[in-house]
Amino acid sequence: MSAIARARRGFIAAFGIEPQGVIIAPGRVNLIGDHVDYNDGLVLPMTISVGTAIAWGPSGSDRVDAVALDCQGERYQFCLGDPKTPSEDGWHSYLKGMAMCSAEAGLPIAGARMAIAGSLPRGAGLSSSASLCIAAGRALAAAAGESAPDPTRLALSAQAAEHRFAGVKCGIMDQMVIAHGQPATALLIDCRDLGTQTVCLPATWAVLIVQSGVERELVDGHYNQRRQDCETAAQALRLKSLREATLEQIAGASLPSQVERRARHVVTEIARTKQTIAAIADADLNGFGQLLVASHASLRDDFDVSVPEVDSLVDLLNRAIAGKGGARMTGGGFGGAVVAVLEQSALPAVLDKVTSEYRTPLGAIP
Ligand code: GLA
Repeated sequence: MSAIARARRGFIAAFGIEPQGVIIAPGRVNLIGDHVDYNDGLVLPMTISVGTAIAWGPSGSDRVDAVALDCQGERYQFCLGDPKTPSEDGWHSYLKGMAMCSAEAGLPIAGARMAIAGSLPRGAGLSSSASLCIAAGRALAAAAGESAPDPTRLALSAQAAEHRFAGVKCGIMDQMVIAHGQPATALLIDCRDLGTQTVCLPATWAVLIVQSGVERELVDGHYNQRRQDCETAAQALRLKSLREATLEQIAGASLPSQVERRARHVVTEIARTKQTIAAIADADLNGFGQLLVASHASLRDDFDVSVPEVDSLVDLLNRAIAGKGGARMTGGGFGGAVVAVLEQSALPAVLDKVTSEYRTPLGAIP
């Protein structure tokens, strides 16, 4: 059953009436430009067809009453305006955090009943938390009579909720593409000024997402540490952010080796994102593939955010794709999914190779 149907059915079961509507928010995959969003960089993510569905109806008061269908029907209630941070983490803190941050941003919100169902695998690096926050923000706005809240303000509220209530100092990429993105279209986001531009891939290209099966968790501090290293580099170079840095400046600044490698990744990854836009415009799949391969190497060697299982899956995909496209890790890293761009006609053979040769750490076919 689809997440939309499950949300509707779960709403009726929990509240005994039909929902007023069902809100959806997708997940995302990043084609290129990782760990550059919090450095004012350029990123090229796209939305995917799985995400979060919330069946909603007004509560008639300032009360939010929500049921999480993927968490054994757990129930959570709170009043809008209650300043207490939730004692439980996970979906509770994202929901309440989104309500608080939306209110602070001046977005319209009202009390609502909600049944939440997701189709995104958790820990796969496909932005299940940003998807939940954007869906929750839209449902709270819908309850206040606003069917199309401003996407950039919604994205900034969702990012604030993640910072304050999950403790992950994430960038703005995930929330922006989920709030703004169109299906089957990539979105170039300039994280310095939040400008966006849709980017269509040639119709004969395919985007493949494969789960490594290594569950990813960004809340353990490694992500924030990477961000800290980048800020240290920018401060040492007396720049507002690494967006303005050059490779020459980094090489000449006598930075500690780890900080230097982090900064080098950021500068080269922003350059690769620009080159990717040119490769797409020229329908140059081989060129795009080389950029994907280089991006993975930089994230693995300079940014230290890959893991051996992801490296071997990426290698396997790159061997199968044989230069007509490429593959790399995607998102925050430390496990999660891998993205590949290739000729549509090559998909069956590449999928065959992956399902016959790759096994997750638990021995499953991806
Ligand atoms: C996570 C964060 C994003 C971004 C990516 C890496 O998904 O939420 O803001 O930094 O990692 O590109």
